Amino acid sequence: MSTAWFTKALLPWYAEHRRPLPWRQTRDPYRIWLSEVILQQTRVDQGMAYWHRFVERYPTVAQLAAAPEDDVLRLWQGLGYYSRARNLRSAALQVVKDHGGEFPAGYDQLKGLKGVGEYTAAAIGSISFGLVEPVVDGNVYRVLARVFGIGTPIDSTAGRKEFRALAATLMDPKQPGDHNQAVMELGATVCTPKKPLCGKCPLAGKCIARKTDRIAELPYKAEKTKTRTRDFNYLHIEGKGGIVLTQRTSKDIWQGLWELPLIETEKATKPKRMAAELEQRYGPGWKVTGIHGPVKQVLSHQVIQAVFWKVTVPKGTSLPKEWVLVKWEAVDRYGLHRLMERYLGDQLTGRPA
Ligand code: ADE
Repeated sequence: MSTAWFTKALLPWYAEHRRPLPWRQTRDPYRIWLSEVILQQTRVDQGMAYWHRFVERYPTVAQLAAAPEDDVLRLWQGLGYYSRARNLRSAALQVVKDHGGEFPAGYDQLKGLKGVGEYTAAAIGSISFGLVEPVVDGNVYRVLARVFGIGTPIDSTAGRKEFRALAATLMDPKQPGDHNQAVMELGATVCTPKKPLCGKCPLAGKCIARKTDRIAELPYKAEKTKTRTRDFNYLHIEGKGGIVLTQRTSKDIWQGLWELPLIETEKATKPKRMAAELEQRYGPGWKVTGIHGPVKQVLSHQVIQAVFWKVTVPKGTSLPKEWVLVKWEAVDRYGLHRLMERYLGDQLTGRPA
């Protein structure tokens, strides 16, 4: 059955209603790539500020490639999922080293770049190079599941295959970039997860979910993502006009970012237990003088419960060499994750000048 009606209804709608986003004024793959990676992490309104920051600081992919990783992480600060920022810089290096500083125009070559998967390769490929490759992101799953009334779980192999195949058959081979962006735009602005604006939808007349009253059920997910709760105990240690920070090095959340020294525990810790823990780890004489929290930070698959322990260290103690005493006025030169940014920001504003 022909599905030409899909793009025929969608493209004129997109031409009229698309948001005037800065990365839609260009076909420069570097700028498109930045926008797509940022938008995997945040919404358009917040993403815009980050996109401007990146293109202003690094106008070319070569400049991004030459940047120290810490600087890139600092620019990414607040977006979360910092491996994306590290991948960004690695991919820029690949473009410079392996492709002479120009983004490759083929789908497989794009996919060969660090952090560039099917989605991003299809987005850059279609928007910048006119490749007829379907993008399938959360917006696309939602639009297609509803319009075509598809209940196959989107988090199953069969589902991913089915939706990708459908998205491919729907494509407008003459305008693949606009087509892909139009589906995503419809999902982002009209066919929203909750309370979709069906009255404004160019596909409403064809929408099976609407006809069969299944909008709320679709798209269908087989498994709710499990979230893990972790108890983080941060040590707030002050001295000589500064505070002790350390860099996260392990392959875990927030890799490469700076924070207070951390003790992760199996469950929430009581003050007595904490005092014992400090003594056991660092020797006698450590004192807890204040507690703040718990503060909750919700990530995509984890919930962090953070307690901040004000601690005094006995005189003459030598601290672990990874711990750095950072002057208060220098704290904002370190890449901090959002939880740390919030806590240290509060400390700074609460402090007498
Ligand atoms: N979400 C992510 N990328 C997008 C794009 N290019 N257009 C609309 N929504 C998007």
